[in-house]
Formats: sequence, structure tokens, C-alpha cells
Amino acid sequence: MNASISDATRLPDGTSVPRLGQGTWNMGDSDASRTEEIAALRLGVELGLQLIDTAEMYGEGRSEELVGEAIRGIRNEVFLVSKVYPHNAGKERLTRSCEASLKRLGTDYLDLYLLHWRGNVPLEETVEGMEQLVASGKIARWGVSNLDTEDMRELMHIPGGDHCATNQVLYHLGSRGIEHELLPWQRSHNIPVMAYSPLAQAGTLRKGLAENETVQEIARNHGATPLQVMLAWSIREGNMIAIPKASTRRHVAENAAAAKIRLSNEECWRLDDAFPQPSWKVPLDML
Ligand SMILES: NC(=O)c1ccc[n+]([C@@H]2O[C@H](COP(=O)([O-])OP(=O)(O)OC[C@H]3O[C@@H](n4cnc5c(N)ncnc54)[C@H](OP(=O)(O)O)[C@@H]3O)[C@@H](O)[C@H]2O)c1
Repeated sequence: MNASISDATRLPDGTSVPRLGQGTWNMGDSDASRTEEIAALRLGVELGLQLIDTAEMYGEGRSEELVGEAIRGIRNEVFLVSKVYPHNAGKERLTRSCEASLKRLGTDYLDLYLLHWRGNVPLEETVEGMEQLVASGKIARWGVSNLDTEDMRELMHIPGGDHCATNQVLYHLGSRGIEHELLPWQRSHNIPVMAYSPLAQAGTLRKGLAENETVQEIARNHGATPLQVMLAWSIREGNMIAIPKASTRRHVAENAAAAKIRLSNEECWRLDDAFPQPSWKVPLDML
């Protein structure tokens, strides 16, 4: 991946990935929007959002099929991420799931394969299976999603667990729980956070975000929209990746432009006042 360094986050193995990528949840579900969704994803890649996140869960494979169509001919420009259901994350099922994802995506490898959330399959079994997928070349690296600090600590004690490349968790201006413990822990272990729902689903996950006067004023000062400010905020520090989902070219162009917005310390302090991080440990927020 050749993202320029200021726009890039480094994975533990040294690979640079763009700080802003593209989510694809609920994409591929409707024939009416398919052409525009594909155009949006392709434009995103052109504009530097080369990391594309999908999952076998999304539309039970429809999102992966759409992504496969969108990246045809440009596979090598994309950092492709998919996720396995927890109940498929062990033994032969893991390999079968991965192979089915590869088929739908029209590729022979994933850049990153994530455990979608922790289920009943022991983490040891998942790590062993992931390492085998790496050895066979089906995936370049693996990571996890929706794991809180205790789960991450446990993961580090499993043989091979320290190969985990990222933990994808919910993070936006209105949901800052990870800043208390998980984010510093991941930083100290050099494991980047991949922030999902960084736009709080266009503000619907937390009312009053985009409408907040501080957010609006900062947006006006940058000639930006409140959602662009939220996106710029989510990647304001190194070691972060955010994956906004946008199904139109207009939204993708706006999101790509947000990568260029640099919030000043003073702006960040004002946002801290408006949306303080919790000063105690709260359970991991997830969808
Ligand atoms: N690991 C997990 O458990 C997990 C959970 C949730 C999500 N995810 C991943 O994270 C991705 C992002 O999260 P998300 O989809 O929940 O929410 P999100 O990215 O916070 O928000 C998506 C919503 O914002 C709208 N939007 C995007 N850009 C916009 C813009 N510039 N102006 C106005 N509206 C804009 C989209 O509308 P349009 O679609 O109309 O453009 C969509 O309604 C997902 O797609 C998925 O890949 C992972």
C-alpha cells in the first residue's frame, strides 16, 4: 500500500495503510443503488481511501460480492479487509469462510481478516486458524473486532496472539469510552485502532452531534461539514484508521477531503468540552 506517510497509519508489521478507508455495511442490498455504490467505492480508491472493509455477515455475502465487482481490475490498489462470524472462527469452518469470502470478492487473498466479535470458539483456536491462513497465503495478516482490553490482554498471552494487526471498534465523537483504557493499551502495544461508525451513522447513533454549536462552528471555520469535522477528529492522532461508509460519490468525495482537515489543539479541547471522554472505564460500545 503506497499511501503517503502523513495520510497513513502503520500496522505492527510495518505496512502503511490509509488513515481513512471505506465501510460497506448495508451496501449491495439493493439493485437500484448498485451502480452508484460501485462508482462510489471506485472513486474512493482513486481519492486515497484504498482500505475497504466488508464482512461475510454484511447482507450474508452481498456486500462482499459488491466489493468484488467494484475492485475488479484494481485489486492491487486496494487493502482488502473482511471479517468472519464468531461461530465460523475455528478449525475447518474458518478456512471455509475465508475461501467463500475470497470467491465472492473475486480475489485470492485478503490483506486483513478479522474476527468480527468474540463468540464461543476459544481464541486459541481462532489464532491457530488465522496463522494457518497466513501460512497458506489466503490472508496477509489477521486482527480482531469488538474486543475490550481484557480480551486483548488474553489474546496477547496466546501463542501467535501478538500477531494481531488491529482491533476494529466503535469510535466517534459521541462514543469515546475506548479513550479511557483500550486506546492507550493498544497504543502501548503498537496495535492501531480501526474506528467503525466514525460518523455515528450520519449522527443517528447519537443525536445532537452534527447539530452541536461547537462542531458547527469548527466546521464553518474549515469550510467543512460537521460530519467532515467528526471524521477528521476520529483520525486526529496517529495509530488510528477510520472506515466511514458512503454509498454515493458525493459523500465519498466529502469524506476523502476530511483527511486533509487538521484540527488545532484548541479545536480539539473545545470538542473535549462539548463531548468529554468518560473519566472511568465503561463497557465497550458496540453495534
Ligand atoms: N466491526 C463491527 O462490528 C462493525 C460494526 C459497524 C460498522 N462496521 C464497519 O464500519 C463501517 C462504517 O460504519 P457505519 O456504516 O455503521 O456508519 P458510519 O460510517 O458512521 O455512517 C454511515 C452513514 O453516514 C452517511 N454518510 C457517509 N458519508 C457522508 C457524508 N459525507 N455526508 C452525509 N452523510 C454521510 C452514509 O450515507 P450513504 O450511505 O447514503 O452515503 C450512512 O448513512 C461499516 O460500513 C462497516 O464496514 C463494523
